Amino acid sequence: MGKFYDVAVIGGGIIGNSIAYYLAKEKVSTAVFESGQMGGKTTSAAAGMLGAHSECDDLEVFYPFARKSQQSYAILEQELRDLTGIDIRKTAGGIYKLAFNENEKQELLPLCSLQTVEWQDARFIRQAEPAITSEILGAAYIEEDVHVLPKAVCQSFCQGAQIYGADLYEFTHVYDIQKNGGIFNVKTQAGDFEAKHIVVASGVWSNTFFHQLGLANRIIPVKGECLSVWKEGIQLQHTLFHEHCYIVPRSDGTLVIGATMVENNWSEKPTIGGLAQMIAKAKSLLPAIERMKVASIWAGLRPQTFDGRPFIGHHPEDDQILFAAGHFRNGILLAPATGQMIKDFILQRKVDEGLAEAFRINRKSHVLV
Ligand code: FAD
Ligand code: GLY
Repeated sequence: MGKFYDVAVIGGGIIGNSIAYYLAKEKVSTAVFESGQMGGKTTSAAAGMLGAHSECDDLEVFYPFARKSQQSYAILEQELRDLTGIDIRKTAGGIYKLAFNENEKQELLPLCSLQTVEWQDARFIRQAEPAITSEILGAAYIEEDVHVLPKAVCQSFCQGAQIYGADLYEFTHVYDIQKNGGIFNVKTQAGDFEAKHIVVASGVWSNTFFHQLGLANRIIPVKGECLSVWKEGIQLQHTLFHEHCYIVPRSDGTLVIGATMVENNWSEKPTIGGLAQMIAKAKSLLPAIERMKVASIWAGLRPQTFDGRPFIGHHPEDDQILFAAGHFRNGILLAPATGQMIKDFILQRKVDEGLAEAFRINRKSHVLV
């Protein structure tokens, strides 16, 4: 039998590694098991926007949780750099959520009623960003929805967790978990391990474990296709966002253009049709895109639950099993708050009851799919 851990985390994406980081920091013995490379799946596909406002469709649950997580990044940026030397490339600038007509402006006005969001007219915006299309009416300007480099965040959580004593097992697929006498036997391709707690953080691949653990929950993949181009000859300091299309200016001189939303598609390869759709949309926001050189293309699978909220919390019948999966469009944004919440559950600390209820895996919802 392999080593014993207090917590075995299954899945080494940004969610699993954030959990490991916060647990190891509290001296909880933790292992992360990852089938491939740490952060190599959906985490690597993300644009990295911390869109607490721009992605918000629910001011009661999503917004407070997302804001808390977004604000954690301000502390983490320095904390992770001091600990690991890794720069998570948190940028300033924020997001312009664009409106092309009066209807779209009206839809943005509730967002603009928040203190952290401001309506700006086209003339004002085009002074700051002359390359934006002249077709816009204006935009909701969200200064605090900055972005990070997802791979760097995941890597810094990994290294930070290791420095605090966690063990990370890459290329170590978990194929079964069995419970004997209150202890889990974690069966992996590198042999068996023992653990007191299991955390399922396997993103869109969590369904196997729901099934093994007697639950009927399902996560559905929503494929997102992206490309990046070299930002030549123009300035762009802000992210542009319109109807699921965004252009994110990264500090390496590229612009990330994303992303399609293709439901129930398990392919991680971009298609010509998906990329063409993104290019056409991006050109309507930033015409100069047309002459830029392609740097890269990719696709990833967003883990979507039946109501769009993640599953974060205990198994309904076994407190030693926890779930942290289904972060859909916002896993990068929500990783710090998710890691802290799972850490609090395991250490039996106080957890916000409203959030625990909203994210529990056996919740009922008025939204049906
Ligand atoms: P993953 O990163 O997929 O990690 C799960 C891991 O579990 C995988 O590495 C997998 O190999 C491993 N695994 C699975 N089964 C097993 C097993 N049996 N044994 C061991 N390991 C296993 N979010 C934002 O906040 N901001 C954005 O701007 C943003 N942009 C996005 C753009 C695109 C195109 C896409 C596709 C997503 C975007 N997201 C964004 C969403 C974000 O990427 C996801 O919500 C997040 O990455 C989910 O993280 P995760 O750790 O749950 O999943
Ligand atoms: N949050 C951006 C995306 O999922 O494409």
